[in-house]
Amino acid sequence: MKTSKALTLLVSALLVIMQSCTSPPAKAVQAQNAITPSAKPKKTYQDLVVGYAQIGAESEWRTANTDSIKQEAERLGVELKFMDAQQKQENQILALRTFIAEKVDVIGIPAVVESGWDEVFQEAKDAGIPIIMVDRSANVPEDLYVSYLGSDFLEEGRKAGRVMATLTNGKANIVELVGTIDSAPANGRYKGFREILESYPNMHIIDSESGDFTQARGLEVMRTFLQKHGTQITAVFAHNDDMAMGAIQAIEEYGLRPGVDIKIVSVDAARNAFEAMIAGKLNATIECNPLLGPQFFELALKVANGEAVPKRIPSVESIFFPDDAAKILPTRKY
Ligand code: AHR
Repeated sequence: MKTSKALTLLVSALLVIMQSCTSPPAKAVQAQNAITPSAKPKKTYQDLVVGYAQIGAESEWRTANTDSIKQEAERLGVELKFMDAQQKQENQILALRTFIAEKVDVIGIPAVVESGWDEVFQEAKDAGIPIIMVDRSANVPEDLYVSYLGSDFLEEGRKAGRVMATLTNGKANIVELVGTIDSAPANGRYKGFREILESYPNMHIIDSESGDFTQARGLEVMRTFLQKHGTQITAVFAHNDDMAMGAIQAIEEYGLRPGVDIKIVSVDAARNAFEAMIAGKLNATIECNPLLGPQFFELALKVANGEAVPKRIPSVESIFFPDDAAKILPTRKY
């Protein structure tokens, strides 16, 4: 009996000694947990910081895009650092460098033009800050951005070409109001439209010039087209609705009827286009969706948490004609 009691005491003493040798102090346990990757807390919208380098305010589309981004950030509680580059690439580059210095979690950018981005995108990558291209893409290697969310501009140009062929029975003298030179939407729409016209030998683009996506420039350029070509012009392809609004004004000043004497097809499907269709002055508008806020922030949170996301997320878009314009206008959000 005495021996077994002594044995129990000895085993217990040994266990205490072993435990004190193997267990680290409580503080060390805490420190270990802090550096384990699985214990790193996931970001939520409330602690997400996002930089958005907006192009400017050149069109109704752009204003709707800005509103969508700002409203969604506020709704979700995301800290949004928003910069308006006033249509200048150098201002967008400056915005990106500011966001990098401020160590935001994610950067969103609709690139005003396609070229000239490699250096600053590389700087963001080196700083470990992921870039999501929103709306307009930049011409950079795939490893310099995580995802591109936006429209298929090439397909929009094709849609415009098909619609124009139907409206003119495959016979037209077209003038084209091009968007901002070297921008992704201008390049895509320009190319897609021509792809379709290749199958229509009696459809000719007799003039093509940039109206920089603004109504004021659309008006000026269309005035010049009319001075040069007069009643030879039978159709206008405007790369956005704002330039189409400028063209409508110029055609009326010239004494012709927009939508009747000269067929007009544009892109965006903004409210001004629906009003023009209801008035019989615009023949069709191809939808390009600016309401990208909800998709953008969902993507940004995933990216900030290191989740895999698709490299390309295209928007789903439609085409609208005057027949349905009055019914659809009240439902339009931009
Ligand atoms: O990048 C999208 C284009 O930019 C829209 O079609 C145009 O209206 C805007 O300015």
